[in-house]
Amino acid sequence: MLTKTITEEINAAIRAAGDIILNADRTTETVESKEGHANFVTSYDKAVQEMLKKRLLEILPGAVFVGEEEDVHAQIKDGYSFIVDPIDGTTNFIRDMHCSTTSIGLLFNGEPVYAAIYNPYLGELYTAKKGEGAFLNGQPIHVSDKPLSESIILFGTSPYYPDLAKKGFELLINLFSRALDVRRFGSAAYDLCMVAAGRAELFFEMQLSPWDYAAGSLIVSEAGGAVTQIDGTPLSFGHPCSVLARGRTDEKI
Ligand code: IPD
Ligand code: CA
Ligand code: CA
Repeated sequence: MLTKTITEEINAAIRAAGDIILNADRTTETVESKEGHANFVTSYDKAVQEMLKKRLLEILPGAVFVGEEEDVHAQIKDGYSFIVDPIDGTTNFIRDMHCSTTSIGLLFNGEPVYAAIYNPYLGELYTAKKGEGAFLNGQPIHVSDKPLSESIILFGTSPYYPDLAKKGFELLINLFSRALDVRRFGSAAYDLCMVAAGRAELFFEMQLSPWDYAAGSLIVSEAGGAVTQIDGTPLSFGHPCSVLARGRTDEKI
């Protein structure tokens, strides 16, 4: 049973991740390149993940832990699994752009049941528990019901997969021509929170990994929106896929 104590402990852990991010010492930070184009990991991605792994497995011993750094090959399975992105928006973090989040999704038998995403720069904690709604710092949030013509479109460039750029930008131009405007924040987890809070109406990215959207997809759906792959099929939490999140609009994209 997912008790209040468990969810409060997860919230405390994610706030501690924010403290590490905010107090990062740039003089000792290390930055390494990973597989793919423009894909980096810093000593702080690793430090946040190490701290979260320890704390989360103390909260739910026996849970599977999947994390973007190092625990990337762990597989979700029946029972509880954490899917964690210690710093979503690593490039923003390296450039000190103050737009990065930490994302914790908790799955039970392969389906998200609790989600927390924290933006430490704004002190914004987004949470959702399956069947109980979505919240920003404890206050209920809801998706927007604006039509596409009045929509802010968020997108991610899938920078690690340059082959997908043409298709993604074509879709973006198509949507831009029918919407109000577009934004690119550089943190997919935060993009999903923006849709959940009704600050933007639609988010898409051609390819993301489960740690980018496991938590955000529950937050959007509990806020009244829908998250699928771009072709409308269900998300996969076991391997990467495209992501399309929207508020109440069901206009064809
Ligand atoms: C990235 C961010 C970015 C998105 C990339 C992601 P990372 O995550 O979410 O917004 O466009 O596709 O990989 O690498 O900073 O954790
Ligand atoms: Ca990420
Ligand atoms: Ca990351």
